[in-house]
Amino acid sequence: MDPLKTICDDALERKWIWLSLLMAIVAGVLLGFYAVANNIHPPSNVETIDSSRLHLTEEFAEDNIGVATNADGSVTVTMVAARYGFYPPRIEVPVNTPVTFRIASADVLHGVHVPNTNMTTMIVPGYVSEVTTSFPRSGEYSFLCNEYCGLGHDAMWSRLVVTSGSTGGDS
Ligand code: CUA
Repeated sequence: MDPLKTICDDALERKWIWLSLLMAIVAGVLLGFYAVANNIHPPSNVETIDSSRLHLTEEFAEDNIGVATNADGSVTVTMVAARYGFYPPRIEVPVNTPVTFRIASADVLHGVHVPNTNMTTMIVPGYVSEVTTSFPRSGEYSFLCNEYCGLGHDAMWSRLVVTSGSTGGDS
């Protein structure tokens, strides 16, 4: 009667298997429901780029990366991730201001995680990763690579400074 009986003889163990299956199904249904109801999706956009020619593009050329303040006061941060660092290595953005990160990898898969904030994304070679967020607390944050990218992975990080002023720096 119990389909699990063929793989498990113990009644108590079968109860726990059913319970954990039920929890997995409930979690999956909730996740699916909120993903559809709130239009939640991974923080990425499908925008391709040739990772081997970043330096030849307008946007990701060395002279053009960094922090730019837009006409409406929001900030766009353009960065390149490459083994083993983020460029520019130090960025400054204003507190409580919409910040759009546009990051491209020059080589392999990288990731970004900024502890104590909701800034996180994968940086997939061949694509531009775009995330818009804002930082409610000023201070210095670590900008960490969180995808294993080689022997120097654990040294791949840079500095994000959230300033209490209303305008960002320009580099
Ligand atoms: Cu870049 Cu790990």
